[in-house]
Amino acid sequence: METQNDRERVIILDTSLRDGEQQPDIEYTQDQKIKIASLLEKVGVDVIEAGYPAASPGEFWTVNKIAHNFANKPNVTICALVSTVVDHVHKTAACLQPAASKRIHTYIGTSPQHRAALNKTKEEIIGDAQLAVSCAKQYTDDVQFSAEDAIRTEREFLKEIFEATIKAGATTINVPDTVGKQRPKKVEELFKWLKSNVEGIEKVTLSIHCHNDLGNASANSIAAIEGGARQVECTMNGYGERAGNTCLKTVVMNIDEYGDDLGVTTNINRRHLIPMERLLARTTNVGLPTNRPGGENANTHKSGGHQSKMSKDKSTYEILDIGEYGGRSKGFIIDKLSGRAGVRSVLKDLGFESVTKTQLNNIYNECMMVADKTNKAVPKSQIKDIATKELEARFNEASASQDNAQTHNVGFTRHMIR
Ligand code: KIV
Ligand code: ZN
Repeated sequence: METQNDRERVIILDTSLRDGEQQPDIEYTQDQKIKIASLLEKVGVDVIEAGYPAASPGEFWTVNKIAHNFANKPNVTICALVSTVVDHVHKTAACLQPAASKRIHTYIGTSPQHRAALNKTKEEIIGDAQLAVSCAKQYTDDVQFSAEDAIRTEREFLKEIFEATIKAGATTINVPDTVGKQRPKKVEELFKWLKSNVEGIEKVTLSIHCHNDLGNASANSIAAIEGGARQVECTMNGYGERAGNTCLKTVVMNIDEYGDDLGVTTNINRRHLIPMERLLARTTNVGLPTNRPGGENANTHKSGGHQSKMSKDKSTYEILDIGEYGGRSKGFIIDKLSGRAGVRSVLKDLGFESVTKTQLNNIYNECMMVADKTNKAVPKSQIKDIATKELEARFNEASASQDNAQTHNVGFTRHMIR
Protein backbone atom coordinates (compact mmCIF):
# COMPACT_ATOMS: atom_id res chain seq x y z
CA MET A 1 0.00 0.00 0.00
CA GLU A 2 1.19 3.51 -0.85
CA THR A 3 2.02 5.77 2.10
CA GLN A 4 2.32 9.56 2.30
CA ASN A 5 6.11 9.08 2.20
CA ASP A 6 5.96 7.38 -1.19
CA ARG A 7 4.22 10.38 -2.66
CA GLU A 8 6.01 13.16 -4.48
CA ARG A 9 6.01 16.58 -2.82
CA VAL A 10 4.14 19.38 -4.52
CA ILE A 11 5.83 22.67 -3.72
CA ILE A 12 3.37 25.29 -2.53
CA LEU A 13 4.34 28.80 -3.57
CA ASP A 14 2.16 31.35 -1.80
CA THR A 15 1.82 34.66 -3.59
CA SER A 16 -0.61 36.34 -1.17
CA LEU A 17 1.90 39.12 -0.62
CA ARG A 18 2.46 39.74 -4.34
CA ASP A 19 -0.43 38.63 -6.63
CA GLY A 20 -2.84 38.62 -3.66
CA GLU A 21 -2.10 42.27 -3.03
CA GLN A 22 -3.01 43.04 -6.64
CA GLN A 23 -6.63 42.64 -5.53
CA PRO A 24 -8.02 46.20 -5.80
CA ASP A 25 -9.38 46.35 -2.24
CA ILE A 26 -6.27 44.92 -0.54
CA GLU A 27 -3.38 47.02 0.69
CA TYR A 28 -1.04 45.73 3.40
CA THR A 29 1.15 47.84 5.62
CA GLN A 30 4.78 46.85 6.02
CA ASP A 31 4.09 45.41 9.48
CA GLN A 32 1.16 43.40 8.18
CA LYS A 33 3.27 41.92 5.37
CA ILE A 34 6.02 40.94 7.77
CA LYS A 35 3.49 39.29 10.09
CA ILE A 36 1.79 37.48 7.20
CA ALA A 37 5.15 36.12 6.01
CA SER A 38 5.83 34.66 9.45
CA LEU A 39 2.35 33.09 9.53
CA LEU A 40 2.88 31.59 6.08
CA GLU A 41 5.98 29.92 7.47
CA LYS A 42 3.82 28.44 10.25
CA VAL A 43 1.33 27.19 7.68
CA GLY A 44 4.21 25.34 6.03
CA VAL A 45 4.40 26.95 2.60
CA ASP A 46 7.63 26.14 0.77
CA VAL A 47 8.05 29.41 -1.11
CA ILE A 48 6.80 32.85 -0.06
CA GLU A 49 6.53 35.29 -2.94
CA ALA A 50 7.03 38.36 -0.79
CA GLY A 51 6.48 41.10 -3.34
CA TYR A 52 7.77 43.07 -6.30
CA PRO A 53 10.79 45.05 -4.97
CA ALA A 54 11.37 47.07 -8.14
CA ALA A 55 7.84 48.49 -7.93
CA SER A 56 8.53 51.12 -5.23
CA PRO A 57 11.04 51.96 -2.48
CA GLY A 58 8.46 50.97 0.15
CA GLU A 59 7.94 47.57 -1.47
CA PHE A 60 11.73 47.11 -1.73
CA TRP A 61 12.26 47.72 2.01
CA THR A 62 9.34 45.52 3.02
CA VAL A 63 10.58 42.55 0.98
CA ASN A 64 14.11 43.25 2.23
CA LYS A 65 12.90 43.17 5.85
CA ILE A 66 11.18 39.84 5.20
CA ALA A 67 14.40 38.53 3.61
CA HIS A 68 16.27 39.59 6.79
CA ASN A 69 13.73 37.79 8.97
CA PHE A 70 14.40 34.59 7.04
CA ALA A 71 18.18 34.90 7.20
CA ASN A 72 18.41 31.78 9.37
CA LYS A 73 15.50 29.84 7.92
CA PRO A 74 16.68 27.85 4.92
CA ASN A 75 13.51 25.74 4.91
CA VAL A 76 11.43 28.56 3.47
CA THR A 77 12.41 30.22 0.22
CA ILE A 78 11.80 33.95 -0.09
CA CYS A 79 10.93 34.86 -3.65
CA ALA A 80 10.40 38.16 -5.43
CA LEU A 81 8.92 38.92 -8.81
CA VAL A 82 10.67 41.06 -11.40
CA SER A 83 10.22 41.88 -15.09
CA THR A 84 13.03 41.06 -17.53
CA VAL A 85 14.53 44.56 -17.17
CA VAL A 86 18.10 43.78 -16.17
CA ASP A 87 18.54 46.76 -13.81
CA HIS A 88 15.46 45.58 -11.97
CA VAL A 89 16.85 42.06 -11.71
CA HIS A 90 19.99 43.46 -10.00
CA LYS A 91 17.83 45.49 -7.62
CA THR A 92 15.66 42.47 -6.80
CA ALA A 93 18.74 40.36 -6.11
CA ALA A 94 20.08 43.02 -3.71
CA CYS A 95 16.72 43.12 -1.96
CA LEU A 96 16.60 39.33 -1.42
CA GLN A 97 20.26 39.06 -0.48
CA PRO A 98 19.78 38.49 3.31
CA ALA A 99 17.43 35.49 2.96
CA ALA A 100 18.99 32.08 3.62
CA SER A 101 17.10 30.65 0.67
CA LYS A 102 16.11 33.03 -2.10
CA ARG A 103 14.47 32.85 -5.50
CA ILE A 104 14.34 35.44 -8.26
CA HIS A 105 11.19 35.08 -10.33
CA THR A 106 11.31 36.79 -13.69
CA TYR A 107 8.53 36.94 -16.26
CA ILE A 108 7.55 38.30 -19.64
CA GLY A 109 4.32 38.20 -21.66
CA THR A 110 4.43 35.55 -24.40
CA SER A 111 0.93 35.34 -25.93
CA PRO A 112 0.09 37.16 -29.19
CA GLN A 113 -1.90 39.71 -27.16
CA HIS A 114 1.02 40.41 -24.81
CA ARG A 115 3.62 40.45 -27.59
CA ALA A 116 1.57 43.07 -29.41
CA ALA A 117 1.14 45.14 -26.24
CA LEU A 118 4.91 44.94 -25.59
CA ASN A 119 5.56 45.69 -29.25
CA LYS A 120 8.21 42.96 -29.35
CA THR A 121 8.93 40.08 -31.68
CA LYS A 122 9.16 36.50 -30.44
CA GLU A 123 12.95 36.64 -30.82
CA GLU A 124 13.19 39.81 -28.75
CA ILE A 125 11.05 38.27 -26.04
CA ILE A 126 13.21 35.14 -25.91
CA GLY A 127 16.32 37.34 -25.78
CA ASP A 128 14.94 39.41 -22.89
CA ALA A 129 13.93 36.30 -20.95
CA GLN A 130 17.33 34.61 -21.43
CA LEU A 131 19.16 37.73 -20.35
CA ALA A 132 17.05 38.18 -17.21
CA VAL A 133 17.49 34.54 -16.20
CA SER A 134 21.28 34.61 -16.71
CA CYS A 135 21.49 37.86 -14.79
CA ALA A 136 19.45 36.39 -11.89
CA LYS A 137 21.62 33.30 -11.96
CA GLN A 138 24.63 35.36 -10.85
CA TYR A 139 22.93 35.85 -7.50
CA THR A 140 21.12 32.59 -6.80
CA ASP A 141 20.83 29.11 -8.21
CA ASP A 142 17.08 29.23 -7.67
CA VAL A 143 15.59 31.12 -10.63
CA GLN A 144 12.00 30.92 -11.81
CA PHE A 145 10.79 31.94 -15.24
CA SER A 146 7.12 32.61 -16.05
CA ALA A 147 5.69 32.94 -19.52
CA GLU A 148 2.92 35.40 -18.72
CA ASP A 149 -0.35 34.39 -20.41
CA ALA A 150 1.21 31.02 -21.28
CA ILE A 151 -2.23 29.50 -21.71
CA ARG A 152 -2.93 31.72 -24.76
CA THR A 153 0.59 31.28 -26.13
CA GLU A 154 1.31 29.06 -29.16
CA ARG A 155 2.74 25.72 -27.95
CA GLU A 156 5.74 25.86 -30.25
CA PHE A 157 6.69 29.29 -28.93
CA LEU A 158 6.26 28.12 -25.35
CA LYS A 159 8.60 25.21 -26.12
CA GLU A 160 11.15 27.60 -27.59
CA ILE A 161 11.14 30.09 -24.73
CA PHE A 162 11.15 27.38 -22.05
CA GLU A 163 14.10 25.60 -23.69
CA ALA A 164 15.98 28.91 -23.94
CA THR A 165 15.34 29.86 -20.31
CA ILE A 166 16.20 26.37 -19.04
CA LYS A 167 19.51 26.64 -20.93
CA ALA A 168 20.06 30.04 -19.32
CA GLY A 169 19.66 28.44 -15.86
CA ALA A 170 15.98 28.57 -14.85
CA THR A 171 15.20 25.91 -12.26
CA THR A 172 11.42 26.43 -12.15
CA ILE A 173 9.29 26.95 -15.24
CA ASN A 174 5.90 28.45 -14.51
CA VAL A 175 2.82 28.26 -16.74
CA PRO A 176 0.35 30.99 -15.80
CA ASP A 177 -3.28 31.09 -16.84
CA THR A 178 -3.07 34.84 -16.47
CA VAL A 179 -6.62 35.56 -17.63
CA GLY A 180 -8.22 32.50 -15.99
CA LYS A 181 -9.70 31.16 -19.20
CA GLN A 182 -8.61 27.52 -19.38
CA ARG A 183 -10.39 24.31 -18.38
CA PRO A 184 -8.90 21.28 -16.60
CA LYS A 185 -8.72 18.80 -19.49
CA LYS A 186 -6.76 21.26 -21.63
CA VAL A 187 -4.40 22.16 -18.78
CA GLU A 188 -3.54 18.52 -18.15
CA GLU A 189 -2.95 17.99 -21.88
CA LEU A 190 -0.67 21.03 -22.10
CA PHE A 191 1.45 19.91 -19.12
CA LYS A 192 1.82 16.41 -20.57
CA TRP A 193 2.82 17.94 -23.90
CA LEU A 194 5.41 20.18 -22.25
CA LYS A 195 6.80 17.22 -20.29
CA SER A 196 7.39 15.24 -23.44
CA ASN A 197 8.37 18.01 -25.86
CA VAL A 198 10.48 20.58 -24.03
CA GLU A 199 14.15 19.70 -23.98
CA GLY A 200 15.59 19.84 -20.45
CA ILE A 201 12.18 19.94 -18.75
CA GLU A 202 13.12 16.93 -16.62
CA LYS A 203 15.81 19.06 -14.90
CA VAL A 204 13.36 21.72 -13.67
CA THR A 205 10.21 21.99 -11.57
CA LEU A 206 7.14 22.59 -13.67
CA SER A 207 4.70 24.99 -12.05
CA ILE A 208 1.09 26.12 -12.47
CA HIS A 209 -0.31 29.59 -11.67
CA CYS A 210 -4.04 30.09 -12.16
CA HIS A 211 -6.54 32.89 -12.01
CA ASN A 212 -10.17 32.18 -11.29
CA ASP A 213 -12.10 34.17 -13.90
CA LEU A 214 -14.21 31.14 -14.85
CA GLY A 215 -14.08 29.56 -11.39
CA ASN A 216 -11.63 26.89 -12.61
CA ALA A 217 -8.44 27.91 -10.77
CA SER A 218 -8.33 25.03 -8.28
CA ALA A 219 -9.53 22.40 -10.77
CA ASN A 220 -6.96 23.62 -13.30
CA SER A 221 -4.19 23.45 -10.66
CA ILE A 222 -5.11 19.86 -9.81
CA ALA A 223 -5.26 19.01 -13.53
CA ALA A 224 -1.77 20.48 -13.92
CA ILE A 225 -0.52 18.17 -11.15
CA GLU A 226 -2.03 15.25 -13.08
CA GLY A 227 -0.10 16.48 -16.11
CA GLY A 228 3.20 16.67 -14.20
CA ALA A 229 3.28 20.03 -12.36
CA ARG A 230 5.11 19.83 -9.03
CA GLN A 231 4.65 23.43 -7.91
CA VAL A 232 1.29 25.12 -7.41
CA GLU A 233 1.08 28.88 -6.97
CA CYS A 234 -1.79 30.11 -4.85
CA THR A 235 -2.95 32.66 -2.30
CA MET A 236 -4.67 32.53 1.07
CA ASN A 237 -8.44 32.98 0.66
CA GLY A 238 -7.87 32.95 -3.11
CA TYR A 239 -7.19 36.69 -2.95
CA GLY A 240 -6.00 38.22 -6.21
CA GLU A 241 -7.10 40.52 -8.97
CA ARG A 242 -10.44 40.12 -10.79
CA ALA A 243 -11.87 36.75 -9.63
CA GLY A 244 -8.73 35.99 -7.64
CA ASN A 245 -5.98 33.38 -7.69
CA THR A 246 -6.06 29.68 -6.83
CA CYS A 247 -7.04 29.27 -3.17
CA LEU A 248 -4.31 27.53 -1.16
CA LYS A 249 -6.68 25.71 1.20
CA THR A 250 -8.83 24.42 -1.67
CA VAL A 251 -5.77 22.94 -3.38
CA VAL A 252 -4.64 21.30 -0.14
CA MET A 253 -8.14 19.88 0.44
CA ASN A 254 -8.12 18.40 -3.06
CA ILE A 255 -4.67 16.91 -2.55
CA ASP A 256 -5.89 15.46 0.77
CA GLU A 257 -8.90 13.96 -1.00
CA TYR A 258 -7.16 12.72 -4.16
CA GLY A 259 -3.57 12.34 -2.97
CA ASP A 260 -3.61 8.55 -3.59
CA ASP A 261 -4.66 9.04 -7.20
CA LEU A 262 -2.34 11.96 -7.80
CA GLY A 263 0.59 10.37 -5.97
CA VAL A 264 1.45 13.68 -4.32
CA THR A 265 1.47 15.35 -0.93
CA THR A 266 2.31 18.79 0.51
CA ASN A 267 4.14 20.12 3.52
CA ILE A 268 1.16 22.20 4.70
CA ASN A 269 0.05 22.18 8.36
CA ARG A 270 -3.65 22.08 7.59
CA ARG A 271 -4.77 22.97 11.13
CA HIS A 272 -3.33 26.45 10.70
CA LEU A 273 -5.18 27.16 7.46
CA ILE A 274 -8.61 28.35 8.63
CA PRO A 275 -7.27 30.44 11.54
CA MET A 276 -4.88 32.12 9.11
CA GLU A 277 -7.64 32.68 6.55
CA ARG A 278 -9.78 34.35 9.21
CA LEU A 279 -6.93 36.49 10.42
CA LEU A 280 -6.28 37.68 6.88
CA ALA A 281 -9.95 38.43 6.33
CA ARG A 282 -9.89 40.59 9.48
CA THR A 283 -6.70 42.29 8.30
CA THR A 284 -8.02 43.05 4.81
CA ASN A 285 -11.64 43.60 5.79
CA VAL A 286 -12.53 41.49 2.77
CA GLY A 287 -15.18 39.08 4.02
CA LEU A 288 -15.26 35.39 3.22
CA PRO A 289 -18.34 33.72 1.70
CA THR A 290 -19.69 31.13 4.13
CA ASN A 291 -20.46 28.66 1.33
CA ARG A 292 -17.02 28.28 -0.25
CA PRO A 293 -15.00 25.04 -0.09
CA GLY A 294 -14.05 24.39 3.52
CA GLY A 295 -15.96 27.52 4.55
CA GLU A 296 -17.95 28.25 7.67
CA ASN A 297 -20.89 26.17 6.44
CA ALA A 298 -18.90 23.08 5.44
CA ASN A 299 -20.21 21.12 8.44
CA THR A 300 -23.45 23.03 9.08
CA HIS A 301 -26.93 21.73 8.14
CA LYS A 302 -30.44 23.11 8.42
CA SER A 303 -32.67 21.04 6.13
CA GLY A 304 -34.82 18.62 8.11
CA GLY A 305 -34.13 15.69 5.76
CA HIS A 306 -30.38 16.28 5.88
CA GLN A 307 -30.38 16.64 9.67
CA SER A 308 -32.27 13.38 10.02
CA LYS A 309 -29.78 11.43 7.87
CA MET A 310 -26.77 13.24 9.34
CA SER A 311 -27.89 12.15 12.82
CA LYS A 312 -27.45 8.57 11.64
CA ASP A 313 -24.39 8.87 9.44
CA LYS A 314 -22.25 11.99 8.85
CA SER A 315 -20.98 10.71 5.52
CA THR A 316 -24.44 11.20 4.00
CA TYR A 317 -23.73 14.89 3.40
CA GLU A 318 -20.11 15.55 4.41
CA ILE A 319 -16.83 14.60 2.80
CA LEU A 320 -14.53 16.61 5.02
CA ASP A 321 -14.11 17.81 8.56
CA ILE A 322 -13.26 21.50 8.78
CA GLY A 323 -11.82 20.73 12.22
CA GLU A 324 -8.89 19.15 10.33
CA TYR A 325 -8.21 22.56 8.80
CA GLY A 326 -8.56 24.45 12.06
CA GLY A 327 -12.23 25.42 11.65
CA ARG A 328 -15.20 24.94 13.95
CA SER A 329 -18.60 23.61 12.92
CA LYS A 330 -21.81 25.42 13.87
CA GLY A 331 -23.58 22.03 13.90
CA PHE A 332 -27.29 22.01 13.13
CA ILE A 333 -29.15 25.25 12.54
CA ILE A 334 -32.83 25.19 13.51
CA ASP A 335 -35.14 27.20 11.29
CA LYS A 336 -38.41 26.66 9.41
CA LEU A 337 -36.77 23.98 7.19
CA SER A 338 -35.55 21.86 10.09
CA GLY A 339 -37.09 18.71 11.50
CA ARG A 340 -37.49 16.90 14.81
CA ALA A 341 -34.22 14.95 14.41
CA GLY A 342 -32.37 18.25 14.12
CA VAL A 343 -34.10 19.69 17.17
CA ARG A 344 -33.38 16.51 19.15
CA SER A 345 -29.71 16.71 18.23
CA VAL A 346 -29.45 20.39 19.23
CA LEU A 347 -31.22 19.60 22.51
CA LYS A 348 -28.65 16.90 23.19
CA ASP A 349 -25.83 19.38 22.56
CA LEU A 350 -27.54 21.77 24.98
CA GLY A 351 -27.62 19.10 27.69
CA PHE A 352 -31.25 17.95 27.30
CA GLU A 353 -30.30 14.32 26.85
CA SER A 354 -33.61 12.53 27.30
CA VAL A 355 -36.72 14.37 26.21
CA THR A 356 -39.84 12.32 25.59
CA LYS A 357 -41.56 12.21 22.21
CA THR A 358 -44.31 14.56 23.47
CA GLN A 359 -41.79 17.01 24.89
CA LEU A 360 -39.82 16.94 21.64
CA ASN A 361 -42.99 17.60 19.66
CA ASN A 362 -43.88 20.57 21.82
CA ILE A 363 -40.38 22.03 21.65
CA TYR A 364 -40.24 21.47 17.90
CA ASN A 365 -43.64 23.13 17.38
CA GLU A 366 -42.62 26.11 19.46
CA CYS A 367 -39.35 26.43 17.48
CA MET A 368 -41.27 26.35 14.18
CA MET A 369 -43.58 29.11 15.44
CA VAL A 370 -40.59 31.27 16.37
CA ALA A 371 -38.84 30.53 13.05
CA ASP A 372 -41.93 31.38 11.01
CA LYS A 373 -42.59 34.54 12.97
CA THR A 374 -39.02 35.88 12.81
CA ASN A 375 -38.12 34.32 9.45
CA LYS A 376 -34.75 33.53 10.97
CA ALA A 377 -32.96 30.59 12.52
CA VAL A 378 -33.88 30.11 16.17
CA PRO A 379 -30.89 31.03 18.33
CA LYS A 380 -29.54 28.21 20.48
CA SER A 381 -30.17 30.30 23.61
CA GLN A 382 -33.85 30.56 22.68
CA ILE A 383 -34.09 26.81 22.01
CA LYS A 384 -32.66 26.31 25.49
CA ASP A 385 -35.35 28.61 26.99
CA ILE A 386 -38.11 26.83 25.07
CA ALA A 387 -36.86 23.43 26.24
CA THR A 388 -36.48 24.58 29.84
CA LYS A 389 -40.06 25.95 29.87
CA GLU A 390 -41.42 22.77 28.32
CA LEU A 391 -39.67 20.55 30.86
CA GLU A 392 -40.82 22.78 33.74
CA ALA A 393 -44.42 22.73 32.44
CA ARG A 394 -44.38 18.91 32.23
CA PHE A 395 -42.79 18.71 35.69
CA ASN A 396 -45.48 21.02 37.14
CA GLU A 397 -48.22 18.98 35.48
CA ALA A 398 -46.74 15.78 36.81
CA SER A 399 -46.41 17.09 40.37
CA ALA A 400 -49.93 18.59 40.22
CA SER A 401 -51.42 15.25 39.23
CA GLN A 402 -49.36 13.51 41.90
CA ASP A 403 -50.77 15.97 44.49
CA ASN A 404 -54.26 15.24 43.22
CA ALA A 405 -53.68 11.57 43.48
CA GLN A 406 -52.32 11.93 47.01
CA THR A 407 -55.30 14.08 48.07
CA HIS A 408 -57.60 11.51 46.58
CA ASN A 409 -55.71 8.72 48.36
CA VAL A 410 -55.85 10.51 51.67
CA GLY A 411 -59.61 10.97 51.27
CA PHE A 412 -60.01 7.36 50.47
CA THR A 413 -58.02 6.35 53.56
CA ARG A 414 -60.04 8.60 55.76
CA HIS A 415 -63.17 7.16 54.35
CA MET A 416 -61.83 3.68 55.09
CA ILE A 417 -60.93 4.61 58.65
CA ARG A 418 -64.35 5.98 59.16
O1 KIV B 1 -0.85 35.92 -13.65
C1 KIV B 1 0.32 35.95 -14.04
O2 KIV B 1 0.64 35.74 -15.20
C2 KIV B 1 1.34 36.25 -13.05
C3 KIV B 1 2.76 35.99 -13.46
C4 KIV B 1 3.56 37.22 -13.41
C5 KIV B 1 3.32 34.87 -12.68
O3 KIV B 1 1.03 36.62 -11.93
ZN1 ZN C 1 -1.06 36.04 -11.53
